[in-house]
Amino acid sequence: MKILVLGSGAREHAIILSLRSEDAEHEVFAAPGNAGIAQDATIVELDMLDGTAVASFANERGVDLVVIGPEAPLVAGVADVLRDRGIPVFGPGKAAARLEGSKAFAKRIMDAASVPTGRAVRAASVAEVEAAFDDFGAPHVVKADGLAAGKGVIVTTDRSEALAHAEHYLAAGAVLVEEFLTGPEVSLFFLSDGDTVRALAPAQDFKRALDGDGGPNTGGMGAYSPLPWLTEQFGSIDAFVTEVTDTVAMPVIRQLDAEGTPFIGLLYAGLIVTPAGIRVIEFNARFGDPETQVVLPRLKTPLSRLLLSAASGHLEDEPAPEFSDDVAITVVLASEGYPEAPQTGRMIEGLAEAASVDGVHLVHAATGAPDAPGGSLIATGGRVLNVVATGSDFADARKRAYEAIGRISLEGAHFRHDIAARVAQ
Ligand code: AMP
Ligand code: GLY
Repeated sequence: MKILVLGSGAREHAIILSLRSEDAEHEVFAAPGNAGIAQDATIVELDMLDGTAVASFANERGVDLVVIGPEAPLVAGVADVLRDRGIPVFGPGKAAARLEGSKAFAKRIMDAASVPTGRAVRAASVAEVEAAFDDFGAPHVVKADGLAAGKGVIVTTDRSEALAHAEHYLAAGAVLVEEFLTGPEVSLFFLSDGDTVRALAPAQDFKRALDGDGGPNTGGMGAYSPLPWLTEQFGSIDAFVTEVTDTVAMPVIRQLDAEGTPFIGLLYAGLIVTPAGIRVIEFNARFGDPETQVVLPRLKTPLSRLLLSAASGHLEDEPAPEFSDDVAITVVLASEGYPEAPQTGRMIEGLAEAASVDGVHLVHAATGAPDAPGGSLIATGGRVLNVVATGSDFADARKRAYEAIGRISLEGAHFRHDIAARVAQ
């Protein structure tokens, strides 16, 4: 198959690695990609936000499937342009992508579909924010309405800090104030063709920058899959997945379809397992990053077949995707100053040494070509690399992941030391 993957992060690199390992004959193109992706796909000069340019390239090169990685091209309507021209595309159109692009829209859809989620109010002024704080009590949860690269949300017991965050985003529109929910978080991905869904394996993301869930929210500092502790509470991981399929994914997919905006692509359900049951905290309209880096290495069903079935409306013909019993963990190496003000342009050393650890592979998030031929790769963003380790148990996979990340040097870089610690005892 000829497949074009749009995006430049670790999620897109993980998707490309999966496609390549499933069938070395696939011809994979990527735009804009990164230095790691360039080793596994043909980079094409293409503005991924320009649907017409993407469609022209796909037509010229006879691309069988376009996979849209990040939210920006989805929100820009790139999938609509491709679909209008009959090009199979995995990724929702602009209207359905509002599920991620607007938290207020997501809440409305959840209300209409009776999906369990925290209580929330839309506040357009400081007075309304204060009233909501009084109503819900502390800790306070404030969310920017639009896309904010994982930084639009604050959860804090400090009322003045919460208010300052709200004021910052009120300048650009309304915010959501939400009731605080407590419990472990689960990310569960569903492939959707607009009316059928197929669940992938649950994963857990580590959103805070520092060990012990300290520091600011980030795009995600690490992840692991599967989640053995779901078995204690739900009897089995399958039982959990079935409950989320029935109470969250299918109602949302049906609601979007009924509104004339079918969701074709990846529905990411961000969930909290509270003492009162499963609650949705957010939806995304794309694969999660870094969760994809631990979900896809465990997937045994060919990814290209699943994505193409979803893109072409044939998911019904697909049996449930199969996963290996192996575990996977990923630790993110971030630049100094991430998430507030990442330092970029620094050299990365030790990649070959890290990748030589047994059962470890590297997924590139923000790496660039060296300044001079034969030189070292350069960090070009906040989250730079993902070290992924797979194995038969978490203690062993963790040991190898941390051994590998210890071999990489990038001045000022930081990573969390407690990824999957809870399940490795
Ligand atoms: P979001 O961008 O909505 O996923 O929020 C980012 C992170 O903030 C989530 O992964 C949670 O850790 C936390 N969070 C969001 N909403 C809530 C809530 N209602 N209660 C507690 N924590 C939350
Ligand atoms: N890991 C969180 C996200 O992809 O939004």
